[in-house]
Amino acid sequence: MCGIVGYIGEKQAYPILIKGLQRLEYRGYDSAGVALLNGDLNIYKKSGKVAELENFVKEKDISGTMGVAHTRWATHGEPNDINAHPHFSQSKDIAIIHNGIIENYSVLKDELLNRGYKFTSNTDSEVLIHLIDDIQKNEKVNLAQAVRITLNQVIGAYAIVVISKNEPDKLVAAKKGSPLVIGIGNGDFYIASDATPIVEYTKNVVYLNDYEIAVIKKNGNLDIRTTKNEKHTPYIQKLELNLSQLQKEGFEHFMLKEIYEQPRSIKDSLRGRLNVNKGLVFLGGIADYEQKLINAEKIVIIACGTSWHAGLVGEYLLEDIARVPVEVEYASEFRYRNSVVSENDVFIAISQSGETADTIAAIELAQSKGATVLGICNVVGSTIARITDAGSYTHAGPEIGVASTKAFTAQVTILTLMALMIAKKRGSISTSKFHQLITELEGIPDKVEKTLKASNIVEAIAEKFKYAKNFLYLGRGYNFPVALEGALKLKEISYIHAEGYPAAEMKHGPIALIDENMPVVFIAPKTGLYEKVKSNIEEVKSRKGVIIAIVTEGDTDIKKIADYTVEIPQTEAMFVPLLSTIPLQILSYHIAVMRNCNVDQPRNLAKSVTVE
Ligand code: AGP
Repeated sequence: MCGIVGYIGEKQAYPILIKGLQRLEYRGYDSAGVALLNGDLNIYKKSGKVAELENFVKEKDISGTMGVAHTRWATHGEPNDINAHPHFSQSKDIAIIHNGIIENYSVLKDELLNRGYKFTSNTDSEVLIHLIDDIQKNEKVNLAQAVRITLNQVIGAYAIVVISKNEPDKLVAAKKGSPLVIGIGNGDFYIASDATPIVEYTKNVVYLNDYEIAVIKKNGNLDIRTTKNEKHTPYIQKLELNLSQLQKEGFEHFMLKEIYEQPRSIKDSLRGRLNVNKGLVFLGGIADYEQKLINAEKIVIIACGTSWHAGLVGEYLLEDIARVPVEVEYASEFRYRNSVVSENDVFIAISQSGETADTIAAIELAQSKGATVLGICNVVGSTIARITDAGSYTHAGPEIGVASTKAFTAQVTILTLMALMIAKKRGSISTSKFHQLITELEGIPDKVEKTLKASNIVEAIAEKFKYAKNFLYLGRGYNFPVALEGALKLKEISYIHAEGYPAAEMKHGPIALIDENMPVVFIAPKTGLYEKVKSNIEEVKSRKGVIIAIVTEGDTDIKKIADYTVEIPQTEAMFVPLLSTIPLQILSYHIAVMRNCNVDQPRNLAKSVTVE
């Protein structure tokens, strides 16, 4: 996915746009560009990070009180200067920035080539600007009408902003499948892929909906119509976000800040939803669907990546205490396999960004088959938050680091609350057990705080394994998903190959990998499967594997056989993932830093995959 920014008003646009790109760089960072209108329409674009663009424009004319800018995560066409956005029309009178994928771009491109248009880039996005240009010229319509006619010919996802030197009083923005937010300033407007570039200027925003086109004028007028030319009244919302959440606040990386925010973010996920004194768990956002959940024949969790791992913890939670059958599906698989969905199924879509294309498509498929879909999202007003039937926000605060950390534990917290709520309503656990669990859950943020204090021990372990070529992560029960999550964290930021497995699965093949060069991380809390995990550790040990074990504080047995141990506080088995994940996040962070990797913006990745 990419980050797009636009500004129109009385201020100089460039400083606003370049800062906006810096805020959105986590969405994509292989090339960047800016278009500025000051009578002339000037475009400057460069491969590399936003800083490269800043260097490139140092001696250029960057004046102008309106403009658009873009930071790219390449889908079609390699990352280079030419494929960077914005893209000019042939006449160089209009330009476009685009986030998304035009699925029928090759058909459109062939038609435009036949009409004599010359393409400069290998991107799908470039067909849009030539088509808009062609329609304007041939049908003698204004920019907004040309955009509307163009979008009616397009198949795919888009968030676009178009700027024209012939209509220097407006920007035209449109959205379908990729996010776009309009900030309403004091007679000026800010447009961006999410609220992070907008919040320091205004808290009044309009989230564009699919098939909406916005004409944003210098005179402070905002006109929204659909691609069918139906007028829509802008729905202005107040941002909850504040600027301090978007800064590193003394941490070297956003990821480290977000790891250390977890006592607060878990507390915020619980806030207003857990009342131990009254013995209450209440999720207001899904209150209308409580009965549906309680009577569900099956709960299907759909998600991607780390959110899928949270969903796997959710399966163990919901089946263990709420006794509801659960299936966890990769959204990218569910959307294409001919799955069996019944009206009595309740789907839970988990997504930090609320913009993951595969998860959105899976939601729409489930809804088309009559199922109810609830969302667990972290970004207020995101697409998934808006298209699901209801949902709960994780309230973890903006997660800027591409590797998801606090969002994972916040998602698991919400799933824990859901499982407890359903268990209580279904009577699948006793009142005393319920009270014991919610009392322990209330204390989890403090236990996360305590777990974070082991960071130096973890850093020392990282030092010993920073050159490892492979890692294995092993866990059982509630900690099998944690093993998967720990492996993903390591590989996505340190580029070391790592695999997560159920510990017992080792004997079915992977144990052949074990030798003195293989670090094996075991999640081995003193809970139900402790003795089984201990045996698995012995099996690995006897084949010279190097053991790093996450153990319950005070455990002396595993300390005797493991090479390295990290302690976490004692807690209920079902809450261990909220603690055992923390040292694995810290381990991957320090190894990545020691390997001089770009922790917050790892190569090839983007924070939210808004294309399939
Ligand atoms: C997590 O560290 C990754 N960045 C990635 O797997 C992410 O969890 C996945 O793309 C899903 O994103 P979402 O939660 O925003 O839908």
